[in-house]
Amino acid sequence: MSETASSQIDNVMHEDRLFPPSREFATRARIGSAEQYQEIYERAKNDPHGFWDEIAKNELHWFEPYTSVLEGETTNVKWFAGGKTNLAYNCLDANIAAGHGDRIALIWEGEPGDQRTLTYTELHTEVCKFANALKKLGVGVGDVVSIYMPMTPEIAIAMLACVRIGAVHSVIFAGFSAEAIADRNHDASAKVQLTSDGLWRRGKCIPLKETVDKALEKSPTVEHCIVLKRCENECNMQEGRDHWWHELVQSASEDCPATPLDSETTSFILYTSGSTGKPKGIRHTTAGYNIWTKKTFEWVFDYRDEDIYWCTADCGWITGHSYIVYGPLSAGATCLMYEGAPNHPAEDRFWELVEKYKVTILYTAPTAIRAFVKWGDEHVDKHDLSSLRLLGTVGEGINPDTWIWYHEKIGGGRCPIVDTWWQTETGGIMLSPLPGATATKPGSCTQPLPGVVPVIVDETLTPVERNNGGMLCISQPWPGMLRGIWGDEERFKRQYWETFPGNYLTGDNARLDDDGYYWIMGRIDDVINVSGHRLSTIEVESALVSHPNVAECAAVGRPHEIKGQAIAVFVTIKDAEPTDELRDDLRRHVRKEIGALAVPDDIRFTEAVPKTRSGKIMRRLLRDIAAGHEATGDTSTLEDFSVLAKLRESDEQ
Ligand code: WT7
Repeated sequence: MSETASSQIDNVMHEDRLFPPSREFATRARIGSAEQYQEIYERAKNDPHGFWDEIAKNELHWFEPYTSVLEGETTNVKWFAGGKTNLAYNCLDANIAAGHGDRIALIWEGEPGDQRTLTYTELHTEVCKFANALKKLGVGVGDVVSIYMPMTPEIAIAMLACVRIGAVHSVIFAGFSAEAIADRNHDASAKVQLTSDGLWRRGKCIPLKETVDKALEKSPTVEHCIVLKRCENECNMQEGRDHWWHELVQSASEDCPATPLDSETTSFILYTSGSTGKPKGIRHTTAGYNIWTKKTFEWVFDYRDEDIYWCTADCGWITGHSYIVYGPLSAGATCLMYEGAPNHPAEDRFWELVEKYKVTILYTAPTAIRAFVKWGDEHVDKHDLSSLRLLGTVGEGINPDTWIWYHEKIGGGRCPIVDTWWQTETGGIMLSPLPGATATKPGSCTQPLPGVVPVIVDETLTPVERNNGGMLCISQPWPGMLRGIWGDEERFKRQYWETFPGNYLTGDNARLDDDGYYWIMGRIDDVINVSGHRLSTIEVESALVSHPNVAECAAVGRPHEIKGQAIAVFVTIKDAEPTDELRDDLRRHVRKEIGALAVPDDIRFTEAVPKTRSGKIMRRLLRDIAAGHEATGDTSTLEDFSVLAKLRESDEQ
């Protein structure tokens, strides 16, 4: 326990519900039993060269074959060296060549209700035309294209057009400020900016071009800006610099062969700050990233030809890159894409979409699921969700009670849930149930995918015992791993590779249970140390979320003279008044669920907790507020600034 090994994290969460895959699901699944998973896993672990060689040879198109499967290690890994391929080719041309040209690639619905579908052939045509438009503006291999666009098919077209000609895209989520765009454009030396006159969000047309105009004042490397017409917003078009998308593609040829690119060619960079520090441009490659997103998509979502798959993420995040565009399209899938907010025009929009398009696989975030719980079951009950057969979550841990709601209310008790753990840096899913093979436990991302070899160590780099928490590292290279931080080799080494030489440091804490299941315990920096007991934020939060009046909650540590740290929690409530009686009740509840040591000292009721634009709780800000300081550091990723002001007033009265 913590008295003897202070760097270990105490496990206080007890969850023993187990959900084995149904026989019906398992029988039809690609990987249909725990034994089959074990066999594939062992093969990938013991013979990564042979394992990946067989997959890459058969499943990607090679303009030139590779000469080795894997060379180098950690910071200088090369996958499939010597080979030439192309991500857009594998997503489009390869599917058309296989006879799937008429299959629907994208089903799209805009927030106002407008719809479009694109077959693989149609998508191919659009991509070729736009790629030619980019070429005409002088974009070539290695040039960075900054994308600040709504979730319309054109964002996928733009991404695919870039990788088709070897340009490097840098997608910036279309909720970021002009300052944030300028910073990223500057860091990447972006040459071209893509945007639109606006995007629909909660019934309003948000003027993106206006924000981009401000950003471009501070983006001297950007030579051209291409503007998609989405709304009827007036735009200031700067002569010589700004071009309308529709005008450029009108005259562009449909003929644009994919450029054969070296396996290790940078496909894109994606800026991530997580909840700390200056954003870094995570660099991904061509062949390794492609094979990783394709295989993980097929394994985890058990994709079949008749499926309609919907990932609700935005292309501004890695989830949108890997599981809206590159993974599903490489696998020939049919994807639903939706532009707007989940509560417009009403809180049942997602369920309306599921019913209308007969979605079979739904992949969304715990933060969204908690919002659905809060909005009430009546919105779900209005719709027929019987088309669903598989559910997924990503982005943060899911509290067991939220998991159960998702399982029962959305999945009708019949859909397996895949809780997928991964990061921008890992390119694709790393730890996740395989829905036909893994018995799931609510709150656990269960087991590593084939090719992923995790290890959990304490601060002395000694592997921890089962059930003790420690730092989660990955000890073998995998094809989708990041290859660098754009322009900052030193930070790349320091951040990921120096702590535990030879191993990739994820920055998360985790524990392995008696059945060999992984439980993510939150970021390393977020551990709360109460009187020598190291507690994980998610365990305290899950205990609170299991109380009927708690909708959402964030737990942080604040300095305490005697205990070292005390626990402060920020709680959003439902169906209750913010009274001292409720506070007492919540304390009793935590005492019962975990024990006295986890009982929070401060309980603050708040309308909302501050989140990053990707929906992660900003615990760093909360720590400052809990300690009575001004919130310091980078707040540029904060989604809603008014939350911060309200929080400062949320003191215990
Ligand atoms: C961090 C990565 C993964 C794509 C979207 C977010 C947390 C992610 C889970 C999960 C517990 C999770 C981790 C991770 N996280 N998925 N299933 N269970 N935690 O990508 O912004 O790079 O964030 O998100 O802390 O390190 P990201």
